[in-house]
Amino acid sequence: MRVISTEKSQILAARIAEALKIPVVDVKFSRFPDGEHYLAAGDLDDETIIVGSIVDNDTFVQLLLLIDACDSSTSRLVIPYMGYARQDKRFKKGEPISARAIAQVLGRGVESCITVNIHEPEVLKYFDAPTTNLSIAREVGEYICRADIPDPLILAPDDGALAFARDVATVGGWDYDHLEKTRLSGVEVKMAPKKLCAASRSVVIVDDIISTGGTIATAAGMLYQQGAKDVYASCVHGVLIGGAYTHLKANGIRDIICSDTIERGCSKISAAGLIATALIRE
Ligand code: R5P
Repeated sequence: MRVISTEKSQILAARIAEALKIPVVDVKFSRFPDGEHYLAAGDLDDETIIVGSIVDNDTFVQLLLLIDACDSSTSRLVIPYMGYARQDKRFKKGEPISARAIAQVLGRGVESCITVNIHEPEVLKYFDAPTTNLSIAREVGEYICRADIPDPLILAPDDGALAFARDVATVGGWDYDHLEKTRLSGVEVKMAPKKLCAASRSVVIVDDIISTGGTIATAAGMLYQQGAKDVYASCVHGVLIGGAYTHLKANGIRDIICSDTIERGCSKISAAGLIATALIRE
């Protein structure tokens, strides 16, 4: 058995291989003169674990090519971050259900799939192959323990992320809550924890995705106004578009903690152990 990956998931793939004590496949990635992707992986007659986050259109195409290169009856697919999953329904007439389109294509050529904190678990039904969604909440909680943040208040930015905040908080027996928006006037909105008080607390805001950083930056500003001592941001998937990282730092976020489902400088938590354990269990 070997692990094969797209260009942008190499580090996580190597960590998964290390955890499983199996080798990685040496893949050569290049492009044809017209820009089309090409890859060559040599002899692929082994059982393969294909690892690839969809962080852009190129990684999606590379993933399709890898799946095609491997034997569909013995390959298992790991999509640590599934881009396009946020368009999980037709919000307006004439729109595609992008998550369905992606899942249907990818799920067809493999024996099974694994995702990590997929934005909307309902999407799993669109994969042809049996698919398991893992949660990295425990690893986030363990990181917070190691980071020595005193008696943290774990906050979800909205009630949709409350279950994730609860699972993170369970690791250390910490308080958790979610932020609630109250409209004060036509132009003024207040964000505050629904039940608890943030004054004098070290707050860790946890979410599945940090994209522009807008949600957390706004929340942090309000939490500081309410007397919070420090605000940290943690997410599973650091999409971090534009200047999201610096936007958060400029808004007083003490530290930004992401996992390696998207490989970033701030990927301080690895999903490798979680994924390796799930692969052994399958
Ligand atoms: C939304 O449903 C997600 O869970 C995140 O809260 C969202 O993607 C964060 O976006 P941004 O960082 O752009 O505020």
